[in-house]
Amino acid sequence: MRANLGLIGLTLSLLASFPAMAATDEASAAARGAYLAKAADCAACHKAANEDGEPYVGGYAIASPMGDIIASNITPSKADGIGRYTQEDFKRALTEGIRKDGAHLYPAMPYTAYRGLTDDDIHALYVYFMNDVAPVDIPTPETDLAFPFNLRFGMAAWNALFLDDPYTPSPDDSAKVDRGHYLVDTLGHCGSCHTPRNMLMGERDDRYLAGASIEGWHAPNITSDPSGIGHWSEKELAEYLKTGHVTGKAQAGGGMAEAVENSLRHLSDEDLHSIAAYLKQVPAISTGAPMNLEAIDTTVPPASLAELEPLRDNDPAAMADGSSTDGQKLYQGACASCHQIDGQGTDDAFYPSLVRNTATRGEIPDNLIMAILHGVHRETNDYTVSMPAFAEELNDEQVAAVSNYVLARYGNADLQVDTAKVAALRAGGPTPWFVQATPWLLAAGTAVIILVLLGIGWFVMRRRKVH
Ligand code: HEC
Ligand code: HEC
Ligand code: HEC
Repeated sequence: MRANLGLIGLTLSLLASFPAMAATDEASAAARGAYLAKAADCAACHKAANEDGEPYVGGYAIASPMGDIIASNITPSKADGIGRYTQEDFKRALTEGIRKDGAHLYPAMPYTAYRGLTDDDIHALYVYFMNDVAPVDIPTPETDLAFPFNLRFGMAAWNALFLDDPYTPSPDDSAKVDRGHYLVDTLGHCGSCHTPRNMLMGERDDRYLAGASIEGWHAPNITSDPSGIGHWSEKELAEYLKTGHVTGKAQAGGGMAEAVENSLRHLSDEDLHSIAAYLKQVPAISTGAPMNLEAIDTTVPPASLAELEPLRDNDPAAMADGSSTDGQKLYQGACASCHQIDGQGTDDAFYPSLVRNTATRGEIPDNLIMAILHGVHRETNDYTVSMPAFAEELNDEQVAAVSNYVLARYGNADLQVDTAKVAALRAGGPTPWFVQATPWLLAAGTAVIILVLLGIGWFVMRRRKVH
């Protein structure tokens, strides 16, 4: 009897603790969802269009070759956000690119990557967005692309071609590498920048993470090849992802600076090491000469300092008259105060070396040009990084001149930058083939339709004559 009473008491107390347990489950799901939202960088796109860029409010325009695509309000507002989404609706948007009303989303929303999200993670994200994000009733302007890109159902055909199987764990991989794989392919959608696209804008499986252009910047080869990150240690990679900087190697500008600032610096060291371990075993794809920066001899100054020193700080007069295209003078006036006259940067590497630097040593000079045009800006957990933008001060010819000086003196001397290249990057990079060809394709399509109609007309007339 006593035992029975005890049992009843135990059952009762267990029952009483159930709601509390459910609540802690939901709370821990929400906390995990907040972390996942950082890892997936939802706020990078789903921010307000204003200066403050409040997270998740939407309105921010993502530049695409087809035109601006407006990121939606994904706060739980019932009127203007995703407040009416069920978890199933949410999953369909994230993994299939289909909105609650059934319309197709443009792949500017990385559903091709999020497709691999586990159900647990989708649940955690859903709980976080619905409970911990404040609803904001601000409608998102409609995305208004030109014909034929305004036909959302066209994305169904694109999905049939490019919505691959999602990431699946490989039985051969260690738990660490597997976690890295999930973070790179699914949450971090690294391939959306680092994998080149085919003519129809699908990511090329045969060039997985081998480097691509994104809004004028070059997202380099990050496969394990020596021309990629083959010479990086796991520790260096993790440090780069956390801070955007590895002394004597590389710094994160452009979209990578944003990825570090908004997402990667918030990840646990364990997760960053998993990403690094995974990258180090991604099948190698060569994109040119090895990037072995440690092998560069920096004890020999690249130029006679005695000759250069008098030019130092000669006031940016070369820039002020707006006409000088002398790369050396431009460098002394605009760059040497930080990167130093010998291009070796400051001792603490806060102003980095241009000699040991993936931006100046690679086969593609785009990041050097983009850094000059737009500067480098990045918040890290401990400090702020800032290089000024010279887009206003220097014209295309001057940017080309100072780039060529930097490449010849400090970087890959085989490269040459011309004015047209600078102009193209200033305009946001080259336009993909299919967008350039759209007017022709449309004209050709119309011609085919007219021919078919003429053919049908001729056939009908002929049959009439026969009868
Ligand atoms: C690289 C940019 C980008 C990232 C990162 C991104 N989104 Fe999106 N998302 C978009 C864009 C752009 C749209 C609207 C696309 C359109 O109108 O076709 C969108 C649409 C959506 C929609 C559909 C809302 C609606 O009804 O219009 C949901 C839900 C959504 N995103 C959730 C998320 C979540 C959750 C994350 C993070 C896990 C995320 N997005 C990360 C760009 C992004
Ligand atoms: C929004 C586009 C974008 C995304 C997303 C992105 N990257 Fe990058 N990444 C870049 C660009 C651009 C650079 C070049 C930065 C520079 O040199 O200023 C870069 C540079 C790097 C470098 C340094 C390579 C070198 O040789 O200097 C590594 C490593 C890297 N990214 C890893 C990653 C990983 C891992 C992810 C996913 C977790 C990722 N990136 C996501 C655009 C992106
Ligand atoms: C006020 C100081 C300052 C001046 C002036 C300056 N830079 Fe920088 N530069 C920086 C800082 C800071 C960084 C980024 C360091 C980091 O990310 O850790 C940087 C980064 C770079 C990079 C690497 C970019 C990348 O994406 O990897 C290049 C290349 C570069 N600068 C070239 C130049 C050139 C050329 C000039 C002159 C036209 C110049 N800088 C002027 C401070 C400066």
